Amino acid sequence: MKKEMGKCMERIKIGMVGSQFAAHLHLNSLAKLRGSKVDVVAVVSRSRANADNFARKFNVPDAYDDYRYILDRKDIDVVDLCIPTDLHEAFSIEAAEAGKHIICEKPLTGYFGKDRKEEQIGFTVSKKRMLKEALKGCDRVLKAVKKNKVKFMYGENWVYAPPFTKLKNLIKASGGTILEIRAEQGHSGSQATYSRKWKTSGGGALMRLGAHPVGAVLHLKHFEGTLKYGKPILAKSVTAEVGHHTQIASFVKEKKKYVVSEWEDVEDWGVIILHFEDGSKATVFASDTVLGGVRNVLNVFLSNAVVFVNINPHNVLEVYAPEPHVFGKEYIAEKLETKAGWNFPTPDDDWMKGFTQEMEDFVDALLSGREPVSGIDLARDVVEAIYTAYASAEEGKRIELIRHNPS
Ligand SMILES: NC(=O)c1ccc[n+]([C@@H]2O[C@H](COP(=O)([O-])OP(=O)(O)OC[C@H]3O[C@@H](n4cnc5c(N)ncnc54)[C@H](O)[C@@H]3O)[C@@H](O)[C@H]2O)c1
Repeated sequence: MKKEMGKCMERIKIGMVGSQFAAHLHLNSLAKLRGSKVDVVAVVSRSRANADNFARKFNVPDAYDDYRYILDRKDIDVVDLCIPTDLHEAFSIEAAEAGKHIICEKPLTGYFGKDRKEEQIGFTVSKKRMLKEALKGCDRVLKAVKKNKVKFMYGENWVYAPPFTKLKNLIKASGGTILEIRAEQGHSGSQATYSRKWKTSGGGALMRLGAHPVGAVLHLKHFEGTLKYGKPILAKSVTAEVGHHTQIASFVKEKKKYVVSEWEDVEDWGVIILHFEDGSKATVFASDTVLGGVRNVLNVFLSNAVVFVNINPHNVLEVYAPEPHVFGKEYIAEKLETKAGWNFPTPDDDWMKGFTQEMEDFVDALLSGREPVSGIDLARDVVEAIYTAYASAEEGKRIELIRHNPS
């Protein structure tokens, strides 16, 4: 690793921050790199018992219940932040100040209220104000990262997913113009409790789910522009709508709920139209009310080709079982309601979703000193696009992105 003092290292020491869903994804995806390029030396979680369990499960030597221990350890090069979104900014800045590189799960940051006492901010605070504050948060992280000369690696796995990488190759080979993109993440709702309230999640479906397709779409137009003109094609303005479909009266009356419905002040559905400076458009759907397992899809309509990217579901495997118990504990797909009937498992879901390649890229970026494919600029642009979308939905009109209209 090229460290600031010019010292080279052959192996990276990672401190994991968080021990739940995202932390599992990251540790599973680091498996093949551990022992050769990477050592995961410690884990911290809010609960010591959870940190201990995680450490046992993944063979991590040290477990803590306070982030300070990770920051104080001189041997740790990188923190891997798999914590609720409202902590990303502060934890990233502290890591940078401690001279540590940062892997940060999506989204980078958002607006979480002036203080922790405020409730229902999703209904009370103007979205334009949220946008301004969220961008100030991005700038603070950017400043700390630059000042301390550390790397910020943004955990947007979609841009590493093998079908997405193939899409980029096909776009390059075709030389065509991207006229339209239709992208979507949908499932039956997050299990994490932080997702229920704006003050911990920074938004609803658009923020938690939409961050993936928005990131992928922005990355793709950036890629196309760099190929064609040597500079990115940027998003110019945004039109959006949000919905609270789990509040529809007939749904509320239904006794059996198959989708999460305990949302407090966050939307469970949203759509964004991104208008790009070359005149092309992308439509992004995000929904917490989609049954049948997670949907991670992106369709690209070029002037001379069409590419459908089906990260999930796809039909590499088609399986049938007359009863849900037939396949026992064998993993079929994320957020699937039942293993009965016809299903479409992924042989290696972490690989298909791009987590394995994401970790490989981050580790290689650190060892070689180059920038990661997914870095802080993408992280910042996603926050701007999503919060501008919230403002658009609130005001019922198309809104220019600040980068295009700085006044
Ligand atoms: N890329 C993806 O597909 C994907 C999937 C799920 C989650 N995520 C992202 O990962 C992040 C975490 O999501 P999750 O579902 O794992 O959340 P979670 O609530 O299940 O887990 C959060 C973890 O953070 C820890 N934590 C909270 N406060 C802490 C503190 N002060 N100090 C140390 N640890 C603390 C908790 O103990 C817990 O282990 C979110 O930003 C989310 O957007 C990404």
